[in-house]
Order: sequence, then C-alpha cells, then structure tokens
Amino acid sequence: MARLHLWIAAAVLALAVPSLAGDPDMLQDICVADTASPIKLNGFPCKANVTAEDFFFAGLKKPGNTSNPAGSLVTAANVQSFPGVNTLGVSMARIDYAPGGQNPPHTHPRATEIVFVLEGVLEVGFITTANKLFTKTITMGEVFVFPRGLVHFQQNRGHGPAAVIAAFNSQLQGTQAIATTLFAASPPVPSDVLAKAFRVEPDQIDAVKAKFK
Ligand SMILES: *[C@@H]1O[C@H](CO)[C@@H](O)[C@H](O)[C@H]1NC(C)=O
Ligand SMILES: *[C@@H]1O[C@H](CO)[C@@H](O)[C@H](O)[C@H]1NC(C)=O
Repeated sequence: MARLHLWIAAAVLALAVPSLAGDPDMLQDICVADTASPIKLNGFPCKANVTAEDFFFAGLKKPGNTSNPAGSLVTAANVQSFPGVNTLGVSMARIDYAPGGQNPPHTHPRATEIVFVLEGVLEVGFITTANKLFTKTITMGEVFVFPRGLVHFQQNRGHGPAAVIAAFNSQLQGTQAIATTLFAASPPVPSDVLAKAFRVEPDQIDAVKAKFK
C-alpha cells in the first residue's frame, strides 16, 4: 500500500514538474549577464563588478519608432539589452503600434506573455494547437495573457497610436514571427515546399517572398 502511494506521488510529481517548467531556477542571489563573455553556456556567465545600474533599465520610457511595414515596434528589456535579468526568469518589453499597425502573428518558445495596455485600442488573440482562436478587444488599463508557445498577435483597432507593456516569464522569451520565418528565412525555404503547404502556386509564394526583401 505504501509502495502504491509512492508510485502515485512519483507520477503526480512527474506530471507537475514539466508543467511548472520555465527558465531554470536560480542557484545564487544575483548573476548579472556578462554578455561579452566568450564562454558559451545555457544563459550567460555572471559578471564580476556589479552595481545598481545593472538592475536598472530606462529603455521602455519612450515610444518606439513605428515607421516600418508592420506599423509596430517591440522595444525589449530582456537579458540581451538588460543584463540584470540574467537567471531571474523574467523580462519585459514595450510595444508601440501606429494607427492600423500590428504586431504580426508570432510565438515565444520559452515564455508566456502578459500585456498591459498603456494607451489605445487593440484587437489581440492567440490560436491553440487545436486551431481555436481566442480574441478580444482591449483598451487602456486592461490586461491579456498569451499562453507560452502559442501563435498570437495584436492589431491596433483605434484611431490613434497604441502601446502596451509586456511581461514574460523568461529572461529571453525568443520570438518567431510566422511570416518572416517562412518567407524571409536565409537560406530561403524552397517555394515549392511553401506552395504545397499553402495550397497555392510557387509564383504566388515568390510574390510574397519579394515583399519581405
Ligand atoms: C566597477 O564598475 C564601476 C562602474 O562601471 C566602475 O566605476 C569601477 O571602477 C569598477 N570597479 C572595478 C574594480 O573594476
Ligand atoms: C523612424 O524611422 C523612419 C524609417 O526608418 C525614419 O525615416 C525616421 O526618421 C524615424 N523617426 C524618428 C523620429 O527617429
């Protein structure tokens, strides 16, 4: 009987641990990233001379420049721009949207994302692996969450600019934008592969690829 309980406990643990998995747990109080280190490991080594400045980042104060084809800009406060978050399992970003702008469909392989609207009106949504879309229009002061790894987007539906603050449970969430990953990869994904996948002709794929040059 005791043995059965042990097996049940082990099974519950085995199920629970992967579902809690995010960035690895900390092994020390602080480990500010030495992003210039030649040492390659899973994350960044800790730098030796740490000050309060290492835990400070002012880069999200100002709106990003949204004059680009998407009409949006993500300003990241992740370990690459903000080394103080190394090993802490968190990061942030600010996303600005021009009128009509969008943050195109993309995924974050390593993080759930939660956004807080600073200004404007946004249609936001994510799609599950069962291809179900969950979508909502959100406005100033409201929050929406995009579960880890799922394809999601934000579209400015207001008449003026919009902006959100995003938080991630990873020091480096990783971003894979669906359109650029497929149509602007280097070397390119063969057009016949994409034509078959999208059920169109290769020249239609080439026309889309040309837009990403
Ligand atoms: C540590 O960093 C501070 C700020 O960058 C610098 O002023 C100081 O000289 C450094 N100390 C050492 C021992 O490198
Ligand atoms: C915004 O980006 C565009 C395109 O790169 C550039 O022409 C423009 O000068 C930038 N605006 C500001 C305020 O930096």
